[in-house]
Amino acid sequence: MTRNDRRAWLKFLAASPLLAGALPFASAPARRASAATRPLGSAAEALDVFELRDLAQRLVPPAHWGYLQSGVDGDVTLRANEAAFARYELRGRRFVDVSHLDLATTVLGMPLATPIFCCPIGSLRALHPDGEVAVAAAAKTRNALQILSTQSSYPLEAVVAARGGPVWFQLYTTNRFEATRQLLKRAESAGCPVVAVTVDLPAGRNTETAARLRREDTRLCSACHTVDAQGEPRLSLAAEPMFQGIDTRGLALTSASLSWDFIKRLRDATTMKIVIKGIEAGEDAALAVEHGADGIIVSNHGGRALESGRATLESLPEVVRGAAGRIPVLMDGGVRRGTDVYKALALGARAVGIGRPYAWGLGAFGQSGVERVLEILALEFRLAMVGCGARSVREISADSLIARG
Ligand SMILES: Cc1cc2nc3c(=O)[nH]c(=O)nc-3n(C[C@H](O)[C@H](O)[C@H](O)COP(=O)(O)O)c2cc1C
Repeated sequence: MTRNDRRAWLKFLAASPLLAGALPFASAPARRASAATRPLGSAAEALDVFELRDLAQRLVPPAHWGYLQSGVDGDVTLRANEAAFARYELRGRRFVDVSHLDLATTVLGMPLATPIFCCPIGSLRALHPDGEVAVAAAAKTRNALQILSTQSSYPLEAVVAARGGPVWFQLYTTNRFEATRQLLKRAESAGCPVVAVTVDLPAGRNTETAARLRREDTRLCSACHTVDAQGEPRLSLAAEPMFQGIDTRGLALTSASLSWDFIKRLRDATTMKIVIKGIEAGEDAALAVEHGADGIIVSNHGGRALESGRATLESLPEVVRGAAGRIPVLMDGGVRRGTDVYKALALGARAVGIGRPYAWGLGAFGQSGVERVLEILALEFRLAMVGCGARSVREISADSLIARG
């Protein structure tokens, strides 16, 4: 059975209310009960992002689902990211004329329909055959910012063509600057205005949930991946689209010896604006400004880097203070509702990234699923603005927030 046959078969099964509870992957331990009483027939039917998550879980093979859902160690940071938003309540305001709302914003010169952007996620073909290209097409429809991973499963140029406009390029630093330089040149040639350099994964991690769910998958990893002696998939940069034409011998995605000098070198090596992704501390935000960064993304890699339990929403205020209004601060991690977007903006974020939610839409329905996720979150965000009496994103402030506990 080919991958497409398999998807078609699973889609058929998913569409059958009788078989819905008996799907082969339904027994995975990480599975959470679906709130949906019957599987969705189209993306438009989804009421929230969780319904798309539940369908994606049925359609995506367990090893790939584990790749998406995993945090590190016991997934404590991942859960903290999501839970942090509940610490804040919204303070409604009355008699504000909210008949005309402006959700639009501009980030580093790029006008966007809403402050909600799609974070870089590697290997999106693991979730849907159209992968990053489908995300680009959805980002085009919704005029959303897409940041493309170094580990994209489609070539950058194909993604830019599908987006019909610029995407930002996410850079893993690599351990060899010559390779980094080649990646930068390719991103510049493709018209990327911004490079988002990810700095929160210097030296390995323990993605336990992913490893556990791989055990549940009956397929042979070696059919599609380079594997190690134990048959476990092994990173092969040579096979990845962004590394074509680059000497990958001895090349690693990241380097444990990275220092702030890297940002200086990056500044000298590229004409793109530089955003540092993965800042959590106020001191690092100040250093980012000092070293010439154009922006910051507060991120802990979706709870996939440091297992500590600290949510990005908790880190956000000190990073905003550290940046002192000199460069924009964006954030991601645990955003699942439009009210989460509102709260992050109220704490000083210029824009808010989603990772897993759009990937759930992708796994469930491809492009239309991603579009629906962006639409749902924008609708929810709009309602938060209405309730709090904020007529534009500029009017969103911490006055709307009440912190609990
Ligand atoms: C499966 C997966 C793969 C990811 N791959 C990358 C990547 O290639 N580069 C990167 O900078 N961040 C990567 N991230 C982190 C996201 O860009 C983002 O920070 C995170 O997903 C946001 O949290 P959320 O998933 O809770 O929305 C990945 C996240 C996930 C879930």
